[in-house]
Amino acid sequence: TDGPLVLGIESSCDETGVGVVRGRTLLANTVSSSMAEHVRFGGVIPEIASRAHLDALVPTLRAALDEAGVRLQDVDALAVTSGPGLAGALMVGVAAAKALAVATGKPLYAVNHLVAHVSVGLLEGTGVPGPAAGRADGGLGALLVSGGHTEILAVEDLARDVRLLGATLDDAAGEAYDKVARVLGLDYPGGPAIDAAAREGDPAAFRLPRGLSAGKYMGSAERPGPHRYDFSFSGLKTAVARVVEDFEARGEPVPVADVAASFQEAVADVITRKTVLACTEQGLDTLLLGGGVAANSRLRALTAERCAEHGIELVVPELSLCTDNGAMVAALAARVVAEGGEPSDLGFPADSSLPV
Ligand code: KG4
Ligand code: ZN
Repeated sequence: TDGPLVLGIESSCDETGVGVVRGRTLLANTVSSSMAEHVRFGGVIPEIASRAHLDALVPTLRAALDEAGVRLQDVDALAVTSGPGLAGALMVGVAAAKALAVATGKPLYAVNHLVAHVSVGLLEGTGVPGPAAGRADGGLGALLVSGGHTEILAVEDLARDVRLLGATLDDAAGEAYDKVARVLGLDYPGGPAIDAAAREGDPAAFRLPRGLSAGKYMGSAERPGPHRYDFSFSGLKTAVARVVEDFEARGEPVPVADVAASFQEAVADVITRKTVLACTEQGLDTLLLGGGVAANSRLRALTAERCAEHGIELVVPELSLCTDNGAMVAALAARVVAEGGEPSDLGFPADSSLPV
């Protein structure tokens, strides 16, 4: 197939990713993760992540070029995540991309990490209908759930018009999983541990809060409340801690599986309910699921169930394209290049709080 040959670099959190695409065709997607180095701290340590990016960047770049069967001098453009993310981690990728641009004379495109997540829908074979993901008929919505973000997005045009409909006011969904896992004495990262524990538990054992679901936050379709599409997981986290403390105070064993299943149900319930509501009200008839929490079995099942009920087509790309990766960065830039978009001025910063 044709289209520009683009190399994308991602370093916003703990994954060093380099991807290569030609237009909408994925040629390589190489990722190196520093997660193993963060496990004993129970969370991503920014300084360690930055140093790991520095170690991993060149080998990952070489591996991606090998996998794609291209040379650096063959690419039409370079791309890099400029934010949002961990400041020091972003700086490693941004500095490397700028150096490559100067050395090769190739144009460099700075891209937004959240928009890049949705851009995997541009790649052939991801299952998003329409020639350019943002289609003429009907709209595309995206639900991004990871350790760093929880957002509902409306995608008019991937290259230039992505709107934030809702986001978390406190913890990201994955962060809530990680914190609750710690309370339950489960391993970090907590998502997979809770998902596994929950399989043996009763999701109705404990009734846990669904954040920002009260009438004053939701409002109505005609008069939307201030947080109709927003999330909050801090109250849920506190409620879980209280349940655990109560068992411990009574000297009884904590029913870990039941608590895990009830927590997982609360998260999946509130996320899918608000997302499906947003899609229905905003005329979005396709939903793309992205981020590491897209691996969650209950979230997947409930999203599929509720999307089907409301006639929304659900697209879940393979997990390597849901978690942080360089291919999504390259895919977005390839689209911008194909549309004649201007490359970035090399003075652009790494912006840890870059908005959508
Ligand atoms: O996208 P990701 O790999 O990295 C970023 O945060 O950007 O997402 C990692 C997050 C972690 O918080 C992890 O606990 C969560 O995704 N996660 C899961 C599952 N697998 C990973 N959460 C729930 N269920 C899972 N099966
Ligand atoms: Zn991400």
